[in-house]
Amino acid sequence: MDKFKIPRHIAIIMDGNGRWAKKFGLNRIHGHKNGVTSVREAVEFCGEKGVEFLTLYAFSTENWDRPRDEINGLMELLVDAIVKETPNLHKNKVRLKAIGNLASFPENVQGKLNQAIEFTSNNTGLVLTLALAYSSRWEIVEAVKRTVEKVVAENIKPESINENFFEQNLTTFGMPDPELIIRTSGEQRLSNFLLWQAAYSEFYFPAVLWPDFRKKDFEHALDEYRKRERRFGKTSEQINQ
Ligand code: FPP
Repeated sequence: MDKFKIPRHIAIIMDGNGRWAKKFGLNRIHGHKNGVTSVREAVEFCGEKGVEFLTLYAFSTENWDRPRDEINGLMELLVDAIVKETPNLHKNKVRLKAIGNLASFPENVQGKLNQAIEFTSNNTGLVLTLALAYSSRWEIVEAVKRTVEKVVAENIKPESINENFFEQNLTTFGMPDPELIIRTSGEQRLSNFLLWQAAYSEFYFPAVLWPDFRKKDFEHALDEYRKRERRFGKTSEQINQ
């Protein structure tokens, strides 16, 4: 029934920046810089289509293991993009959010990010969530800790713990689960991204590298999504009745 609908929530693993740079004999950071253009275009596209939530995997917990100069370059790029793009995001009613272990980021990055989040907090358009120092297992363990705290404080019986109770402690609480998850560059893995939330997501793995991902590629992703029948464990007949 919802086949022709636009997904409410799309999540993207932006992959292939390094390979893109290598193709042109450039330093990896140039791949990330060009990736920012694709971020801008993806945000615009979602706004135009009426997507409500766009979540971007911008920096994973595992990315801390990259060479120091690449990490520094990414931090600079992030601050630069946040400072430069926030007025435009605001003008377009985009509300910025972030999920992940933000406390692990340098203070200047946290500061600029929090300013931008605060500045756009009353906007009513697209919710753009950046997953930063994020990993799903980290998120789930944090959620377990908070669940246990509540259980102890409120003397809750284990048998009353259910999915709803647990997911209130996830960083994505309040957002619908992503109906569509895109990973560019041909890799077909989730890499510790939204493991809980992806329970019923459709996956789309285009070969295009993230810095080359344009509106036409996003359009293909939506075409592919529309072709799929989302059954949530039911039969085709139940869905189409
Ligand atoms: C993956 O490509 C990409 C990243 C780890 C960083 C993504 C960051 C940006 C696009 C820029 C900043 C983002 C925002 C939201 C302003 P890779 O380096 O793993 O590529 P490879 O697999 O080809 O090496």
